[in-house]
Amino acid sequence: GRLWAVVPAAGRGTRFGGEVPKQYLAVGGEPLIAHTLTALCAHPKVDGVVVVLAEADAHWPGWQAIAGKPVVTCVGGSERADSVLAGLAALPDSVRADDFVLVHDAARPNLHPADIDRLLEYGRNDPVGAILAAPLRDTLKRAGDDGGIDGTEPRERLWRAFTPQLFRRLQLSRALEAARDAGVAVTDEAMAMERQGLRPLLIEGREDNLKVTTAADLALLEFLLGSR
Ligand code: CTP
Ligand code: MG
Repeated sequence: GRLWAVVPAAGRGTRFGGEVPKQYLAVGGEPLIAHTLTALCAHPKVDGVVVVLAEADAHWPGWQAIAGKPVVTCVGGSERADSVLAGLAALPDSVRADDFVLVHDAARPNLHPADIDRLLEYGRNDPVGAILAAPLRDTLKRAGDDGGIDGTEPRERLWRAFTPQLFRRLQLSRALEAARDAGVAVTDEAMAMERQGLRPLLIEGREDNLKVTTAADLALLEFLLGSR
């Protein structure tokens, strides 16, 4: 089947702040989102991308193809899950209901091809799908109301969820719709699938596949992209 990616890029970057949404800030001479889309489109197994934009987005450079792959746009919603739903609906008909789709944050530009390879290799052989993730490395503390430590939590079996996340087109749409209809705010695609009683696979990915959330992340990203 065909493999497309949906890239939610309709966020406002409230934690980052500033005039320009973080996905459009210049990194290494290009908008951050250019790195993200190039990482996806340059991968031989990716056939195209849907980029989900904010309404009246004045920053989108208007690309219609990257690395020879079609780039399609649509308008997102107020929550990330709404944006992903809009992106899934905007996929071309050549992507069938049971084809796998990659969902990848626009704000996560340091994606390496070997991570996509491993996600596809394991995820496409799983009945549900898979996500990139990494085990927690730090000791976890539970805070009390006064800022004191109430205890230390076991970190075994705890993972940080990254993107891309790989699920079947229709199954993911249905899961995101079910969460929305139940009024549950899901923070990633896997969470919507889990609510359906499904068990996506965790695929260990590179820790430097970071999501830009604050200004400190941007400095680290400059370094990471500069050293590739
Ligand atoms: N996103 C989206 N639609 C939304 C919210 C987020 O498409 N309604 C996208 C963002 O553009 C980003 C990705 O989802 O590429 C991950 O979200 P996050 O890092 O939280 O970005 P923002 O929501 O923009 O940032 P913040 O939460 O600080 O406002
Ligand atoms: Mg957000």
